[in-house]
Amino acid sequence: MYYIGIDLGTSAVKLLLMEGTGKITNIVSKEYPLYFPNPGWSEQKPEDWWNAVKIGLKELTKDCDKSQVAGISFGGQMHGLVILDEQDNVIRPAILWNDGRTQEETDYLNQEIGKEKLSKYTANIAFTGFTAPKVLWVKNKEPENFARISKIMLPKDYIAYKMTGSFCTDVSDASGMLLFDVEHKCWSQEMMDICGIKANQLAKIYESYEVVGTLKPEVAAELGLSEHVKVAAGAGDNAAAAVGTGTVGDGMCNISLGTSGTIFISSKNFGVDRNNALHSFAHADGKYHLMGCMLSAASCNKWWMEDILQTTNFAEEQAVITDDKLGNNHVYFLPYLMGERSPHNDANARGTFIGMTMDTTRADLYQAVLEGVAFAIRDSFEVAKSLGIHIEASKICGGGAKSALWRKIFANVLNIRLDLIESEEGPGYGGAILAAVACGEYATVEEAAAKLVKVVDSVEPDKALAARYEERYRKFAQIYPNVKELFPKIS
Ligand code: XUL
Repeated sequence: MYYIGIDLGTSAVKLLLMEGTGKITNIVSKEYPLYFPNPGWSEQKPEDWWNAVKIGLKELTKDCDKSQVAGISFGGQMHGLVILDEQDNVIRPAILWNDGRTQEETDYLNQEIGKEKLSKYTANIAFTGFTAPKVLWVKNKEPENFARISKIMLPKDYIAYKMTGSFCTDVSDASGMLLFDVEHKCWSQEMMDICGIKANQLAKIYESYEVVGTLKPEVAAELGLSEHVKVAAGAGDNAAAAVGTGTVGDGMCNISLGTSGTIFISSKNFGVDRNNALHSFAHADGKYHLMGCMLSAASCNKWWMEDILQTTNFAEEQAVITDDKLGNNHVYFLPYLMGERSPHNDANARGTFIGMTMDTTRADLYQAVLEGVAFAIRDSFEVAKSLGIHIEASKICGGGAKSALWRKIFANVLNIRLDLIESEEGPGYGGAILAAVACGEYATVEEAAAKLVKVVDSVEPDKALAARYEERYRKFAQIYPNVKELFPKIS
């Protein structure tokens, strides 16, 4: 049997075809536009996602025995607001996870409703990228659109809806809406009241590995697949990536270097960071996790290389950053190109280079970009440590994990071992595993991950280098607190 994992990302959708044994037989990627209609805004068209998914599915399955495709599931970009009217028309472009327009609504939630109440209702506080502040933004700024809302959805759930007609979501993705009571895994009546919405505008909740429906006959016919193909709820991309890297059960860690950068810690018990700097969400394995999310990770690398240096030769630019340079850079970079989520929660924060001198080179600046992302993940890692969580090793996945240099920087900045998985396609592989569990190929997500996920390479920190990076990190950690007052003044 075949299982399909769909990673509905920010720059593209990546589709992956997996055999029941875990072997990946095909991977296809289809890009779609990302719109920045105002500084700090970030939008996509749900119709573009659906078209790309359909084209991608046809290409993915063109050489396989289509009758053997048994299940499909997802890892989806989280928090995006998709709104449909009564006729199922998309009301406006989706407002994405890295959109910073909701500062006013976020302040209202955190300050007037209060962080304590939000944390009690949902286990989290408001961040500009979360869904509830976006609902309030539409209510305040586009009342005519708000009045038309019949269904509120997350990005991957729109795809499941188009495929099956089932208005559904899963516990991990719902956790990032700030409308969901994470501990009890149900919608929060208090949050619905605060946002002025009703229960029937919200989807039915499933565990990530549960079946939500089968392909609609017309969709099955268009794709050349059977109407019996099961669609499982899937997960937010980070929870799916955690499944795809075997970060399930208790006390496991995964770092994902995609457009965003996350550190994800699985837990068998529900728990809340007392400062709410880390998100407390449900996991795709039926349990829970804590997560820190930075908004620009591999996207800083892409920005520096493609937009600023105007090159795509990553290997050549990285080759000059030799071992002797690591831990010795005098330039620092704050990677806040889209503002920052964890742990600063500051939509006004901006990318910043500091420390240049006349002898600073192009390579030093690039190294600072790569190190700045690692230091920013270390900020969330420090929060986890302050909660008494002890992390000795982590998996690493996402496009950024392909760079051996960046993996080495991360291992030494965090001073932990990093394990690379056979498939770096974390969310897509996780999605396919969730589909396999939903179809009964494996009894549980934990069992599937234990059987399918294989470590192919590890990088251990080097004592002397980790010590140099420790010193550098202490310096990096002083920059943001000293410049943060400036950001709202210059933005
Ligand atoms: C997680 C988050 C991002 C997106 C990226 O909270 O906002 O990782 O899910 O797709």
